[in-house]
Amino acid sequence: MVKSYIWFDGKLHEREMLKFDMLTHSLQYGSGIFEGIRVYKTKKGAGIFRLKDHMERFLRSAKIYDMKIDYTLNELEDAVIEVVKKNKIDSGYIRPFGFYNDTQIGLSVKDKKVSVGIAVVEFGRYFKSTEKGINCIVSSWRRINSEILPPQAKASGNYLNSIIASNEAKKFGADEAILLGSRGFVAEGPGENIFLIKNNELLTPSEESDILMGITRDSVIKIAENKGIIVKERLIHREELYTSDELFFCGTAAEITPISTVDKKSVGNNGKVGPFTKMISESYSEVTSGDNEEFDWITLC
Ligand SMILES: Cc1ncc(COP(=O)(O)O)c(C=O)c1O
Repeated sequence: MVKSYIWFDGKLHEREMLKFDMLTHSLQYGSGIFEGIRVYKTKKGAGIFRLKDHMERFLRSAKIYDMKIDYTLNELEDAVIEVVKKNKIDSGYIRPFGFYNDTQIGLSVKDKKVSVGIAVVEFGRYFKSTEKGINCIVSSWRRINSEILPPQAKASGNYLNSIIASNEAKKFGADEAILLGSRGFVAEGPGENIFLIKNNELLTPSEESDILMGITRDSVIKIAENKGIIVKERLIHREELYTSDELFFCGTAAEITPISTVDKKSVGNNGKVGPFTKMISESYSEVTSGDNEEFDWITLC
């Protein structure tokens, strides 16, 4: 078996040698913060997509929770590059994770050390039916909001909200959930931001919609604007999901995933993948694979 390595607290370790206790604080209480980054095969070698932006968000998540990270942004970026190189992976998913490695029952993490681990794994498509589009339901669960758990921190505990919604969708035969925010407007998927096409304009829930400000969301906005498409970030009503011309999810894992039905209602032209989604999806692949160099988003390893 090929050995895999994890960067942990400053050093590379064989993955199978790293063991953690069941009473680890972050395992018990979800008190970790993390990132999800893709590395793509490019003609010039492995290229990490928007590395700096991801690690900046990692540090922002830490700040929200008063977690003291012992590494600078540059050191973290270098560590990611080092682990990708060491694992000789030219296409996959990188998982930086900041967590409390203390074994304790008490909740208090005041002055506790934050451990940082970085793993990379091979990873293909997140959704199998990406070509045709996936089936979604609007979840009966609401998205977390800043009064309860800050959505802007990519924190482990937040993902219980995502998991409960995703499980519900699967239980009802759908591929994925769409969550509404606390005010009843469309927020996002459990691990994806959402875009609508309506009258040749690209719409996406705005920051006040209880969303994670996704890096793919930002890439989509910039790619679309570069093509002269009008992009509007605003509050979006649930029923607009049903009446939009096209709908798609985006995210590091999901990349661009067309949505063909919501609550069993077909989107646009009988749920077929529409021209805007196709164009954005193709452009996104060109950018991530390094074939389009208009955006300076790739860190070669
Ligand atoms: C809740 C949530 N929304 C949106 C996204 C998309 O964010 P990004 O494009 O930065 O991966 C993710 C994935 O990280 C997520 O977990």
